[in-house]
Amino acid sequence: MSARRKPPPKLKVLIRRAAIRQRVRQMARQIEHDFSRQPVHLICILKGACIFLADLLRELRLDTSVDFIAVSSYGKGSLPSGEVRITKDLDQSIEGMNVIIVEDILDTGLTLNYLYRLLQARKPKALKIAALLDKPARRVKEVPVDYVGFTIPDQFVVGYGLDFGEEYRNLPDVCVLPAAGA
Ligand code: IMP
Ligand code: MG
Repeated sequence: MSARRKPPPKLKVLIRRAAIRQRVRQMARQIEHDFSRQPVHLICILKGACIFLADLLRELRLDTSVDFIAVSSYGKGSLPSGEVRITKDLDQSIEGMNVIIVEDILDTGLTLNYLYRLLQARKPKALKIAALLDKPARRVKEVPVDYVGFTIPDQFVVGYGLDFGEEYRNLPDVCVLPAAGA
């Protein structure tokens, strides 16, 4: 096949895979400590958190189960409105469970603020949030996040599950995607 591909934009590595691996391990130790031998139910927010979930899950020395939820957010133009729609709901009830929501990145907080309230209403025993990345500069809604991997500046990042138009999820490092024209 000789299909021509457009040249990739110049991506700058922000967080290397080795640093991610080490931090995910630390987060797992913290979760084990907090839940002291109780089972935990991880809820992965599709699709961006899938790689973080897979790594965190394999680090956890606890009884675990997983489920998946997918959301899409509405917004006018590039501004999110805070309206979130569930496009794939959980397969099972979370009532009475120790639940950890696993998210790739916390940005404005609109998605997690909505999901946290939605899942809290389903009466879990505990409800925690683990986010690999946190971009506090853009926060508009407060979110009670319990485990954060890395706090990053206000830049658009891709890789390790994060995408831009479905591209770049397979990059092993978290990279900065330069703004168009930069
Ligand atoms: P929030 O509702 O603004 O907190 O949205 C969080 C969601 O926006 C994340 O789950 C990502 O899907 C997406 N997002 C926010 N910032 C970035 C980024 O820098 N790269 C890729 N996706 C991002
Ligand atoms: Mg996401």
